[in-house]
Amino acid sequence: MRVFRFGEIDSTNSFLKRENKLENYDLAMAKNQTEGRGRRGNSWVSKEGAALFSFVLKENSKLPMEEYRKLPLVVGVAVLRALKKFQSLDYKFKWTNDIYVNEKKISGILVEKINENFIIGIGINVNNEDFGDLKNSATSLKIESNKEFNIEELILTVVEEFKNCFEEFLNGGWELILKEINEKNYLLDKPVTIKIIDKITRGIGGKVLDDGTLEVDVEGIKKSFDIGEVHISFK
Ligand code: BTN
Repeated sequence: MRVFRFGEIDSTNSFLKRENKLENYDLAMAKNQTEGRGRRGNSWVSKEGAALFSFVLKENSKLPMEEYRKLPLVVGVAVLRALKKFQSLDYKFKWTNDIYVNEKKISGILVEKINENFIIGIGINVNNEDFGDLKNSATSLKIESNKEFNIEELILTVVEEFKNCFEEFLNGGWELILKEINEKNYLLDKPVTIKIIDKITRGIGGKVLDDGTLEVDVEGIKKSFDIGEVHISFK
């Protein structure tokens, strides 16, 4: 495991994707990103004070490929556990990749794959307080707690928690991970809008199911949605 620290870089995910010969748990962190990326081609913009980092997970031959669709949820639980160690707040997990506090986003996760490596990118709003136009939809640990935190310590804690969670996952611990996800399920009983190509379906969010898909009640009928198949947006 190597650690790469940057004052500024385009994106810690992009950096690791460009590197040859990645090792398991190679970690890149930056104070600022000029081209931070989110899911579905969105950009991730944050001012200095956020934890911006990515690390490598090498494909493990013990785990069948379809199990990796649960990876963002395993990462989510690791981030939840790490955050809880730093500051007790009412964190919620928004399937499949975000963490919310008080109805505002505090962290986003972007999992990408390059060859036999998964690049797990995480942004956590820590000591940053200025969200400009996003002030009604984003928050940080500092805003919620009035305290400042050591960013690198938090990053290293997330990676440690992930190592433990992934080990747990490999050893049959999915049920417990899923339970934690469902206890913190932000979308439960919330109206959701699902867009599949051009078709829009509205429903009410339900629980996250054993296969990692989200159950949605669509006019009284329970359907399940997989993030890999659908474009989903929420209101
Ligand atoms: C999302 O909310 O859509 C995911 C955001 C992920 C942002 C992090 S910041 C560190 C890493 N580098 C990136 O370019 N993106 C991820």
